[in-house]
Amino acid sequence: MTDRSNLDSTRNGLEQCKQSHLLGFWEALGPAERDALLIQIADLDLAQIPTWAETLVKNGDETPIEPGDFQPAKSYSCQPQTDADRDRYAEATRLGQDLIAAGKVAAFVVAGGQGTRLGFDGPKGNYPISPIENKTLFQIFAETIKAVSDRYGAACPWYIMTSPLNHGATVEIFESNDYYGLGQDNVLIFQQGTLPNFGTDGKILLADKSSIARSPDGHGGSIRALQRSGALADMKKRGVEYLSYWQVDNPLVKLFDPLFIGLHVLDGAQMSSKAVIKCEPKEKVGNFCLVNDKVTVIEYSDLPDELAEQRNAEGELLFHLGSIAIHIINTDFIEKLNSEDCSLPLHRAVKKIPHVDSQGAVVQPTEPNGVKLESFIFDALPLAAGSIILDIDRDEQFAPVKNATGVDSAESTRAMMIERAARWLESAQVEVPRRPDGSVDCLIEIAPSFALEQEDIQAHRDEIPAIEPGDSIYLA
Ligand code: UTP
Repeated sequence: MTDRSNLDSTRNGLEQCKQSHLLGFWEALGPAERDALLIQIADLDLAQIPTWAETLVKNGDETPIEPGDFQPAKSYSCQPQTDADRDRYAEATRLGQDLIAAGKVAAFVVAGGQGTRLGFDGPKGNYPISPIENKTLFQIFAETIKAVSDRYGAACPWYIMTSPLNHGATVEIFESNDYYGLGQDNVLIFQQGTLPNFGTDGKILLADKSSIARSPDGHGGSIRALQRSGALADMKKRGVEYLSYWQVDNPLVKLFDPLFIGLHVLDGAQMSSKAVIKCEPKEKVGNFCLVNDKVTVIEYSDLPDELAEQRNAEGELLFHLGSIAIHIINTDFIEKLNSEDCSLPLHRAVKKIPHVDSQGAVVQPTEPNGVKLESFIFDALPLAAGSIILDIDRDEQFAPVKNATGVDSAESTRAMMIERAARWLESAQVEVPRRPDGSVDCLIEIAPSFALEQEDIQAHRDEIPAIEPGDSIYLA
């Protein structure tokens, strides 16, 4: 039996924030459904709902940023430019290596997204991507972490954020693959939170008569989820001070990059980023800017055209640094954000959201009909006491699998994996067959155990066979 006073106070709370319709099917629900619904309502942040509904949902207002506030951000270039740079990079690399060897760095991937654009059945991390062995994204990351751990003789724990949409399936994948040889103790899989979905009228949508339509609260939800899940406490216990953060869709990511870690620490930063040099003014990546002297990511759609187009005397874009969602984050910074209850701003996304209407009929929209809210991890950057940016060679480290076809698809990612492998071999004077247009005329796959970076190839030079056009060469 539902406690009467609990029901009354729930009704009151909902009335005050104009969401009474959530109990619209109450009379038709059985006891278990009623209890489940009350628990979900209790989990809503009722104090915030009216503000979200009025500003983000109905009016689409996000915190405005005045164009005058923007300055281009500065970065460390992937290639040191001066002798002083070279010395600093060498010092940073040594420091980064020492920190990895001392077990101070952990891997952290956000993998709670829905992967709607890719349209793959199951967690995106289970997408088979490697060109010959068909290794999944998860397997590539696991092998990379294993190779780093072997190289430095250090434990490199791996934290994986999932969401209620894919948590069970993700755990099952790791269990059935015996945690890819990393040991269950070294892999922590935890869930992020969710937020309710709204109709465009500001009313929260019901997924069915007794459950609220919800979706993951964005990769920014990781700040809170790391704390709530106990992952942060686990890091403390292990002595982890830095997280090597990345997104689950980028198999080229260079995890545990000693240079990046070292520069970040030498500069006393709390959260740092890798960037690519944008290929066009309005490329669809976030822009690293300075706002009130703080590194801030401004979405491409929010960067005014006249600023996006500005160039220096050499003709280079002034706002040239694009965000690729690769960061180093200090664990004590995450702790601080949680202890100060710093919530990251919410952003709206207009989406097709299945729900039941006021009559209880199921609606499967063919057009966007509602608003999902999420927070973004890069919004933590301006809250950090210090922040560096390292610009990297996109062809070496960034090939996201976002779409089923075309740009940023599995096909383009595989092509980039093969191209990078070919370049690495060629750097050690291995002859790689190429077609007249310059593209690689064979399949090459390099396992992380064979080489983590280009410089590792030379040591294995004798193990690499002669390569003929059309060959499939897997190096492990
Ligand atoms: P995307 O923005 O590419 O979203 O996420 P997505 O869900 O993977 O794909 P679409 O937009 O539905 O097609 C970038 C990264 O952030 C993670 C994703 O798993 C991916 O690694 N993410 C996103 C989360 O972990 N949680 C979220 O709530 C959203």
